[in-house]
Amino acid sequence: MISQEQNDSLTRVGPGSDAGSVLRQYWQPAALSDELMRGRPVVPVRLLGEDLVLFRDSQGELGLISRHCPHRGADLCFGRLEDNGLRCPFHGWHFDRTGQCVEQPGEPEGSRMHQQIKTASYPVVERNGIVWAYMGVGAPPAFPNLDCFRAPETHVFAFKGLWECNWLQALEVGIDPAHASFLHRFLQDEDPEAGYGKQFRDKAGNTEMPMTKLLRDYPRPEIHVEDTDYGLRLTALRHLDDGRTHVRVTNQIFPEAICIPMSREMTITQWHVPVDDETCYWYSMFTSFDKPVDKAVMRDQRLREHRLPDYAPLKNARNNYGYDPEEQAKETYTGMGLDINVHDQWAVESMGRIQDRTQEHLGKTDVGIIRFRRKLRAAIAAAKAGQFAELPMKNGTDPAAIFGPVCNDSIIADSDWAGAGALSDAERRAGCPWDARV
Ligand code: FES
Ligand SMILES: [Fe+2]
Repeated sequence: MISQEQNDSLTRVGPGSDAGSVLRQYWQPAALSDELMRGRPVVPVRLLGEDLVLFRDSQGELGLISRHCPHRGADLCFGRLEDNGLRCPFHGWHFDRTGQCVEQPGEPEGSRMHQQIKTASYPVVERNGIVWAYMGVGAPPAFPNLDCFRAPETHVFAFKGLWECNWLQALEVGIDPAHASFLHRFLQDEDPEAGYGKQFRDKAGNTEMPMTKLLRDYPRPEIHVEDTDYGLRLTALRHLDDGRTHVRVTNQIFPEAICIPMSREMTITQWHVPVDDETCYWYSMFTSFDKPVDKAVMRDQRLREHRLPDYAPLKNARNNYGYDPEEQAKETYTGMGLDINVHDQWAVESMGRIQDRTQEHLGKTDVGIIRFRRKLRAAIAAAKAGQFAELPMKNGTDPAAIFGPVCNDSIIADSDWAGAGALSDAERRAGCPWDARV
């Protein structure tokens, strides 16, 4: 357990906050490209506790500026998209994508007041289905060469979902390899062939055993955590009765992403980005190392579970996440259906908006969480001292030289788990239609 002061430091994200200052040093997912294609391209964005509006101007360029008009605060999400910018409907002040006010049509003829008016604006770029924003001081960093950014657009599908809790507890479920044996336990195994686009429905590694059975039968993983140039690598070993070992390699990508295997074909790179202190979005990039992603299937599966325009899940605290005690007795560990996202959502939302870590008791399987918090604390201390160059991926490592990460499931016959995991990953990369070499 940690003190209240430490918990506040690790979780709160508004301007000037400890963790918020660290997160602002990295590109953050601000919206899905899909959102700009639905109707007119003006989208409200609340990110790290700041209210913003994202729009595409008539030159096709994106702008991310303060949502409230700097005149008297009206909501620019209702702005008129015209004259290569956004015009406030209240008195017609007009802003370009940099946030500069370029016209005040109600002010006296010849007035130059508008030259002094510039609202907050942040750099944005679009990469493989997501619009990214940089809200920090100084120039934005280069993007790391992660698989999800390197793969062609045909091989990546992006989606997001709203969770009603702080970003850190959302992230921490992703670096906790033990929970999959319980929270996501299915009491029956589904045919792995029917599992396209879903997690834990494939066969385990190169065996005929469904992942569901393996996770159920071997609930005590041996977990190893290593520091890497992008964050942490977690290796969970499940020693099988026949002498073989199941090796699952997952990653924490600093500051708030994870990269995990989804199936033999796809990985998931997922950001847990704060909307504010008490709400977050997960943004996932599903990356295929084989065929192009079937985006229509992937999108339909997920749209059936979410409401637009805010991507709030249909199962939530208001309807008890669809909890069915009968199902809990016979089919699933949670009684909340087969969608593992709902299980994770319940786990992290049911802790309360910001988990009270003064009352927690971490065990051996929480080693990934302990190591991550240590890293975040060190980053906060560096940011407080203005030493931004000491943060992960800025400390002498060229982000462009960060590839991968290695992320897979395999089954090995001997004890060389590090070598075997890398070998099975290399096989997949060698057969990949895009250049996935690391
Ligand atoms: S409040 Fe926006 S122009 Fe007046
Ligand atoms: Fe999970």
